[in-house]
Amino acid sequence: MRSFIVAGNWKMNKTLEEGVALVRDVLARFDQPPPGPVVFAVPFPFLQAIGALVRERPGFYLAAQNCHHEEKGAYTGEVSADMLVSVGAQYVIVGHSERRQYFRESHEQLAKKVDLALSRGLTPIFCCGEPLSVRERGNHVPYVARQLRASLFHLPEADLSRLVIAYEPVWAIGTGKTATAAQAQEMHAALRSLLARRYSPEVAQAIPILYGGSCNAQNAPDLFQQPDVDGGLIGGASLKAEEFAAIIRAMRR
Ligand code: 13P
Repeated sequence: MRSFIVAGNWKMNKTLEEGVALVRDVLARFDQPPPGPVVFAVPFPFLQAIGALVRERPGFYLAAQNCHHEEKGAYTGEVSADMLVSVGAQYVIVGHSERRQYFRESHEQLAKKVDLALSRGLTPIFCCGEPLSVRERGNHVPYVARQLRASLFHLPEADLSRLVIAYEPVWAIGTGKTATAAQAQEMHAALRSLLARRYSPEVAQAIPILYGGSCNAQNAPDLFQQPDVDGGLIGGASLKAEEFAAIIRAMRR
């Protein structure tokens, strides 16, 4: 059975001191390991400190929010997959819509990032999602399918099965306007059947597909009830310990 995962994407928020306090506060709310992996996707400068906190706690993991698509070299200001591994990250977010939009990350670059992350033993959390104009035209499923085809479908099945996918409709990110549980389920089921056709039903069933976009403690239980929604990638609501803990508790298994 695939894992149920809750990941908090802090984006460009918090100082180190605030971030450490937040993670301590979340961890203090759990005596037992969570039902599935809980991932903190923190800014690069915090990776080591947050990693030291979660390393002691089964079920809690460390992620970066991005990595460069080349192995190493003259890329001032960039961070490599090897660097992430060396500070203890287990996951890396790849292709967040904010990276696609503000940093013009292309399908080809994202394919390279996925390859590099997998080759270093990192689990990519591959983000996809359509803008509002695409949804309004009713083209959301083909649009997101294309994102998967362009950046993932070169992978052999054994590699693809090590991925996590996060569906994050752009119009729902940071807007307070969440997809309905039915909208999320429709897309997740469509992506799973696309994976089943390209690869196999077994691999499609094994891949966690998370929902992201204004997911919070109120709407998480409903979203997480959907048969093809395997958890959440949480932005704003992951910055508050009580709320993030409530979302973790809404995990189905
Ligand atoms: P919000 O939960 O703040 O809408 O952000 C979602 C997101 O982009 C997580 O990666």
